[in-house]
Amino acid sequence: MTERMLKDDPNWWRQAAIYQIYPRSFKDSDGDGLGDIRGITSEVDYLSSLNLDAVWLSPFYPSALADGGYDVADYRNVDPRLGTLEDFDEMVAALHAVGIRVFVDIVPNHSSNLHVWFQEALASEPGSPARDRYIFRDGLGENGELPPSDWPSHFAPSAWTRTTNPDGTPGQWYLHLFAPEQPDFNWDNPEVQEDFLTTLRFWSDRGVDGFRVDVAHALKKDLSEPFRSKPEFIDFANPLSGDDVLFDRNEVHDIYRQWRKIFDEYAPPRVAVAEAWVRAERRVLYARPDELGQAFNFDLLLADFDAQEFKRIITDNIDLAKTQGSSSTWVLSNHDRVRHVTKYGLPAGYDLKEWLLSHGTNLSVDHEKGLARARAATMLMLALPGSCYLYQGEELGLFEVADIPADQLQDPIWERNHHTDKGRDGCRVPLPWQAEGTSFGFSSGQAHLPQPASFAEFAVDVQSGKGDSTLEMYRNALKLRRELQTSENYSWIETGNPDVLHFTRDNGWQSVTNFGATSVPLPQGHIVLASAGHVDGVLPANTTIWLKSLEGK
Ligand code: GLC
Repeated sequence: MTERMLKDDPNWWRQAAIYQIYPRSFKDSDGDGLGDIRGITSEVDYLSSLNLDAVWLSPFYPSALADGGYDVADYRNVDPRLGTLEDFDEMVAALHAVGIRVFVDIVPNHSSNLHVWFQEALASEPGSPARDRYIFRDGLGENGELPPSDWPSHFAPSAWTRTTNPDGTPGQWYLHLFAPEQPDFNWDNPEVQEDFLTTLRFWSDRGVDGFRVDVAHALKKDLSEPFRSKPEFIDFANPLSGDDVLFDRNEVHDIYRQWRKIFDEYAPPRVAVAEAWVRAERRVLYARPDELGQAFNFDLLLADFDAQEFKRIITDNIDLAKTQGSSSTWVLSNHDRVRHVTKYGLPAGYDLKEWLLSHGTNLSVDHEKGLARARAATMLMLALPGSCYLYQGEELGLFEVADIPADQLQDPIWERNHHTDKGRDGCRVPLPWQAEGTSFGFSSGQAHLPQPASFAEFAVDVQSGKGDSTLEMYRNALKLRRELQTSENYSWIETGNPDVLHFTRDNGWQSVTNFGATSVPLPQGHIVLASAGHVDGVLPANTTIWLKSLEGK
């Protein structure tokens, strides 16, 4: 494997390709069926073959796994089932040696209920400094038997859980916007603020290059009492004024301005990306240069495979990012969403939850169409200026696993919604590395989530070196992208066909996508650089092609 030097460019992240690793499902090195840090290190050559700029690791910290690791018991350690800090250091060194930078996931809104601070809070008196690190309140009603407000949890039903006092009597309530095992921190408390600065320094000192900030828009709440009512959460419906009781409050930006000072202590400065489910106009505020620098733009992930929808999203997001001096990000899949191969194989706008609940039997997915569209959308995305976030397994064309037996589901969403929502396990099934063998080469033991038999066809060893495979398409497109892009410029070319999107990038590089149902003629006077499907004189339906104009313009 050729070594690639990390460039010292402080702007490396503006047009990067970043690959999300969900550590428990990437590769297992010790046979316990859970992916681990050494497993990642053992696949550095694979990651390098993808031509990535960085990887982002979902949480690998000590955790009871009440929410797939997003319930962190110790922010400055590695879960012993996943390895040690030494393993982590070795992984970072091995990735850096092949020119791949490392992001870690920071979960600042809530900890695990097993965090020492929460345990201390439970053992302490109401009103004590230990309780003030979280959000404890007396209940309403005559005996405090009602929750302090009507706020719901993202994982349903209430965002409040009542504690039990050491003598067995019912106690105060505490706030958790997610599962009860994820108590929310009180970000008005300077000790909480200070502790996260320590965590950011801890990982930056270990060579971590960037941070993905979990639910970045939720940290500051309006805790003045009586609490304002908010019986429902609707993503993207928070007021543009920044005055919602729970989300996207203006004060949250003070936190990130403080974090930026830490990032800038390092060379090159550490970088970050916000996960903020807010409207596009507000999302870019998190990406300001004196804050996190980038924010996930989930618009393509939420969109149907539709040319005009894609065009509007692309144009608006590039323009909006520019207003704040940032570059846009692009995402088609992640560990929280139904894999896009599956989504594109169902009718546009189809209710994915309903489909999952039926184990995928109420409507069959057109896998061929889904995969063709996923490949086309990916090539289009990789031709755009900005940073692309790729989710492990999408380079293999993996689909959502809808038929995980109910007794093996791990996502808290399943139980908390009384079995009416299957949750997110279907996109978290361990990767197939080999067509043969236990767990398709993921582990020498049983994988922690069951892999379907058809994963064999998608295995890395089946696709490697096979010219038309999805894996080789990713490798090739990522390599070309790195070679071809020299600026953040792009411009649309009018096609006269509402189903066809055509734009140019640097040095005559062009991308054309046919979202329609029938083939269209290929533009003349170009050489073909790469394509997402078989192109023979015409551009078939659901296909993207990259061209270079013969004049080099
Ligand atoms: C983010 C994560 C998700 C997690 C939640 C709570 O949305 O992506 O996986 O459940 O935050 O931490």
